[in-house]
Amino acid sequence: MSVLIKGARPYGEDVADILLQDGRIAAIGDSLSVPGADVVDAAGLVALPGLVDLHTHLREPGREDAETVETGSRAAALGGYTAVHAMANTDPVADTAGVVEQVWRLGQEAGLVDVVPVGAVTVGLAGERLAELGAMADSAARVRVFSDDGHCVADPALMRRALEYVKALDGVVAQHAEEPRLTVGAQMHEGDRSARLGLTGWPAAAEEAIIARDVLLAGHVGARLHVCHVSTAGSVEILRWAKSRGVQVTAEVTPHHLLLTDECAEGYDPLFKVNPPLRTDADVEALRAGLAEGVIDAVATDHAPHAVEDKETEWASARPGMLGLEQALSVVVATMVDTGLLDWRGVADRMSARPAAIGRLDGHGRALAPGEPANLLLLDPGTRAVVDPAALASRSRNSPYAGRELPGRVVATFLRGVPTVLDGKATR
Ligand code: DOR
Ligand code: ZN
Repeated sequence: MSVLIKGARPYGEDVADILLQDGRIAAIGDSLSVPGADVVDAAGLVALPGLVDLHTHLREPGREDAETVETGSRAAALGGYTAVHAMANTDPVADTAGVVEQVWRLGQEAGLVDVVPVGAVTVGLAGERLAELGAMADSAARVRVFSDDGHCVADPALMRRALEYVKALDGVVAQHAEEPRLTVGAQMHEGDRSARLGLTGWPAAAEEAIIARDVLLAGHVGARLHVCHVSTAGSVEILRWAKSRGVQVTAEVTPHHLLLTDECAEGYDPLFKVNPPLRTDADVEALRAGLAEGVIDAVATDHAPHAVEDKETEWASARPGMLGLEQALSVVVATMVDTGLLDWRGVADRMSARPAAIGRLDGHGRALAPGEPANLLLLDPGTRAVVDPAALASRSRNSPYAGRELPGRVVATFLRGVPTVLDGKATR
């Protein structure tokens, strides 16, 4: 199968045609013509490497009413993703080779993105005993990222042991940094606003204390640490310090933490309840700057679908989490590109190359160049549209961007040369 993409702008730069053949980029050049190829008109569209998400909740097995591997994969493809890491907090928890292989196989069957399972660090996410990390790494799913996300690996001795194990596996511990003793009952960012709204606060120090501890442990062990959904200015400072000392630490920020603040809690709409919580304007500014600088390596969605009965309740009983896959690139365009903080090569680095490298993925995160796997997307950067939750491919509706106008529309996505999205619609 051959696809000839006509008139795209790779990385937003000079116009070129891109030929996809046998799953690879066969050529990039002027006025290519190939008899029999399917032609895609890409005039005015930016071509970028397929996006890679380090942090997606697909909810299968266990909560197929909120999302399945297939519906989440479709949402991902529509967002321009060609690979997503599926978080381990499913039911049963992905803490054995059997469960990670099941998730991996479901991803292969859906065939829309490469679904890369994350393995739990501890059995049942209980934070007491290490899970079978080696067996998950050796399984067909080839797990390299281990996380108890949703829960912090709070016990420092256990965290140290986990770092020692993943070092031997060329893996990484992705920590949900939240000191649980400081966030008992927490509902939103701790500050003036939480006091006024009467909601229990989640202090920035609960995140920063764990990151500070863990970069010291990672440095001591000589292992790789990844910090999930960094949300505070102080966390960026600690990461900058750790990187300057040579600690092998990487970090991600979510689209929602780049765009939204705790002001969203004013209406007590649980759509805006998320963990870690939305923070202040100063935090948003520091996160954007940290991502531009590269202290924060990646944008990761923390796509967290929830069923209506878990989300449309009073604030205190609602589950934390928000959808992200379908709007992530648009939010990055709004917060990082349109503001001049990142160019398109920077977007490709933070949303594709670096997350692929952190996850040790082969075949993703590569440059748009002849010979490389044909994983790429076409974006119309000029279109602005109002987000309609009813139109999302996700099985859930908890988008914090509902009713908001955002720039950029993913027109097409290709996985190994095969279109998963064309004309803005999923092909399967
Ligand atoms: O808001 C969140 N939702 N944060 C997490 O850490 C977990 C996630 C979920 O699984 O819903
Ligand atoms: Zn988390």
